[in-house]
Amino acid sequence: MQVVDAKKSQKVVVLGTGGTIAGTAASASDHTGYTAGQLGVQHLLDAVPALQDSLQGHELVGEQLVQLDSKDMDHATWQALAQRCAHWLARPDVDAVVITHGTDTLEETAWFLQMVLDTNKPVVLTCAMRPATALAPDGPQNLLDAMVVACDPLSRGVMVVCAGLIHSARAVQKVHPYRLDAFSSGESGPRGFVEQGGVRWQDLGVLPKVHAHARTALTSNVAQWPWVAVLHSHAGSDARQIQALVAAGVKGLVMAGTGNGTVHEKLASALSEAQAQGVVVRLVSRCAQGQIVGKAAFSTAPLGLNVFKARVSLLLDLLG
Ligand code: SIN
Repeated sequence: MQVVDAKKSQKVVVLGTGGTIAGTAASASDHTGYTAGQLGVQHLLDAVPALQDSLQGHELVGEQLVQLDSKDMDHATWQALAQRCAHWLARPDVDAVVITHGTDTLEETAWFLQMVLDTNKPVVLTCAMRPATALAPDGPQNLLDAMVVACDPLSRGVMVVCAGLIHSARAVQKVHPYRLDAFSSGESGPRGFVEQGGVRWQDLGVLPKVHAHARTALTSNVAQWPWVAVLHSHAGSDARQIQALVAAGVKGLVMAGTGNGTVHEKLASALSEAQAQGVVVRLVSRCAQGQIVGKAAFSTAPLGLNVFKARVSLLLDLLG
């Protein structure tokens, strides 16, 4: 579905992918027993009366890509989303892309897009913690705020806008299962704030470089993408999970280690054996903040990424 007004030259494209922002429940008081990904992107846009005021003359183009609960996000959808973003962003008459997305894997999609999209234009992901049918849904305000960020002249890179905060793809993490401000940028803090229809930047940000295998990610068959799994080191850890993954053909393992990247003794030798068999191992800290400092037993993931984004980066590394 596309709505294009050829009279106006510059456009903001809104790609719908589902999530709670497009979710519906039987009762307005139900914030958890709903079905995500029910309403189309045009419905979401129509539910924001002041949207035109925030567009600074831009025309809106709505496109429904998928209707997913983002817990079920997959590589094929990532690739399709990145392709549509690349398509629209390459057009001189498109200034920005806004993506409506579920909150559950939002940070992973944001990091994937940041790594594979070669553009200076803004890509703004937004979401909701309450379904569209709630008495006071948060989706319309988040969508309005995302539009403000998309149209801001200083915006660039992949960002997440939720509850008035602008997060970078690198730092953002979902930190709460139901609160409206469910995202945090941890110790780096948000890139900025949306206030009264304007943006207050606090960090214009140094954007990470596009990944060397971005083109492969956009064009290769996802069925051939390497299998990269995530593991955590914890009390009572058991090496059999690593052995089973290696036997089943895993190509990469991202281990969330304890503290400064230490790994349970039961896992350490299994990880070394996996490495000896050609599996690439990356280590992150399972701590919510900070990153591994100094020398660790295995190579550490770049940029202090959390374990899920480190999986994205290792997946892209292995695409080579
Ligand atoms: C989802 O991630 O699609 C469902 C949960 C949410 O959007 O908050």
